[in-house]
Formats: sequence, structure tokens, C-alpha cells
Amino acid sequence: MTVNRLRPRRSCLAVPGSNPRFLEKAQGLPADQVFLDLEDACAPLAKPEARHTIVKFLNEGDWTGKTRVVRVNDWTTEWTYRDVVTVVEGAGPNLDCIMLPKVQNAQQIVALDLLLTQIEKTMGFEVGRIGIEAQIENAQGLNNVNEIAQASPRIETIIFGPADFMASINMKSLVVGEQPPGYPADAYHYILMKILMAARANDLQAIDGPYLQIRNVDGFREVAGRAAALGFDGKWVLHPGQVDAANEVFSPSQEDYDHAELILDAYEYYTSEAGGKKGSAMLGDEMIDEASRKMALVIAGKGRAAGM
Ligand code: GLV
Ligand code: MG
Repeated sequence: MTVNRLRPRRSCLAVPGSNPRFLEKAQGLPADQVFLDLEDACAPLAKPEARHTIVKFLNEGDWTGKTRVVRVNDWTTEWTYRDVVTVVEGAGPNLDCIMLPKVQNAQQIVALDLLLTQIEKTMGFEVGRIGIEAQIENAQGLNNVNEIAQASPRIETIIFGPADFMASINMKSLVVGEQPPGYPADAYHYILMKILMAARANDLQAIDGPYLQIRNVDGFREVAGRAAALGFDGKWVLHPGQVDAANEVFSPSQEDYDHAELILDAYEYYTSEAGGKKGSAMLGDEMIDEASRKMALVIAGKGRAAGM
């Protein structure tokens, strides 16, 4: 069985699992992914009921065109197993992935994989279809990120969780997504690159976490633009106003997309019998070869996924 794990995730919309009004509204927004949250957006006393609310909305809502994800609580809490059992037993066929926050090591992914397999077998669901998204939110997780990325064939994405991460390493900033005052360079560069390398080395997607100044769309664009420039596939959105910006920032520009398709066409022609079986060729003033083809494929792939 092969499962397509490369779903569009330019915009990953967070929705509190305890808020029916937001769960209703989220269905009409043009986000690539929606994740219904049982973790930090859900108060402890609201979690038991939120599990059932999520099951109801997954089964009865219209999520057409969206990747459907539920974020459960992390394994150090007392809630995780019941989150997974209730949600997957109740709505497994209408759910694409479970997001696991604060992942610290590969064993935590293996444990979730085993639990999912048990539920799928018991319920008669397709075994292995539900994917896992792993959030990296502390130093242990970052140190183990490559093993985490390899821990299960269910893993689809590695996600940076800046709020918890900054708190866990004592970074001196209170504005999530913004630079800490007093440091003259990009304080997130190392973390983002390490996550990106683990994702790319294992054919997974890399997703940037939230930007909490929800009314500052220019600030969101700037921070999202940095992650997109490095090669990240998408970013969390916390507010309807951030959705279009994320979709735009994580799609190539029309000009870049058209150019990438041109390179692919030209390369295909020049390497063919009719084109002289060449290893490299000129496209205007630009030399193109196998490496340019690969770079063009990345841009074209993102553009095609965005429906360009
Ligand atoms: C997200 O969960 C974060 O902690 O930034
Ligand atoms: Mg977090």
C-alpha cells in the first residue's frame, strides 16, 4: 500500500476543538490544512468534551479540499491516549493525520504509531493510512529530529513550534515569531535549518509554526517569507486574515512558475533524441542541465500543487 504523504500545506489553520463556532467557520476558509486542537488552545477542563465535538465536526462537517488533522496532547500528559482513541475510533476514516506536539524522541512517535495501528485493526480501518505530524518544541526534540523523522512511515511533516521552543530554551522574547531584542542576527536560523534538513533528508514536509500578532499581516508575511525562502512548505495560520497571505507566500510567483515550466520543457527537448541527447543546453542566456532541472522541478511542483 502506498499513501500519498505530500499533501498541500501552505496554510495550516489552527482551530480550538472546544469552539463549535470556529469549527463551523473554518470549513469555509481557503486553508490547505485545518487542525482541530485538543492541546494548548483547549483548556484542561474542556478537553473531554472537545474530543467528542471534534469527532462530530470531522464526521458531519464539509472539509472538502482540506487536509484534516487533530492535534492531541503530548505524551507527558495524562490525556494523550484517550485523545487518540476517542478521535480515531470516532472519526478515523474522516481524518488524515494526528499531530503530536512536544515530540522529544523517536520512541514517542513509535508509541503513537502502535496505538494508531491497534485502533485501525480493531475498527477495520485501512492500516497505516493515518499520518503523523511531529512538532519540534524543545531542545531534546531538536537534538533528535533526524531520528524522529525516521521513526515511522506514517510521518508526513516536521513542524517548528516557536512559542514552546523559545520558552524551553529561555530565549528572551515574548513576541512569538519575532526576533529577541539584543541579538543582531536571525535567532531562528539554526533551528529552522536543522528541521528543514531532517525533513528533506527523509522526504517529509517542513512547516513553520504560528505568528501570534494576528492583526499584523505584514509582519506575518515577512516571517513566512523567510521560512518560504529557505524552502519550508507552509506555515500555521491562527486567523482568517493570515490564510491568503500564507497561500501566496508559499506558492511561487507566476513569473517563477512559468520560467520553471519553460526550463523543464527545454530540458526535456534537448535531452531527447530529437533535441540531440544533450546533457546541457542554453535557454536564452541561461545554461540548463540536470541540476537546473531539479531546481525547476521544485518550483513547478509547488506551483502545480497550488493549481497554477
Ligand atoms: C506551537 O505549538 C508553538 O508552541 O509555537
Ligand atoms: Mg506549542
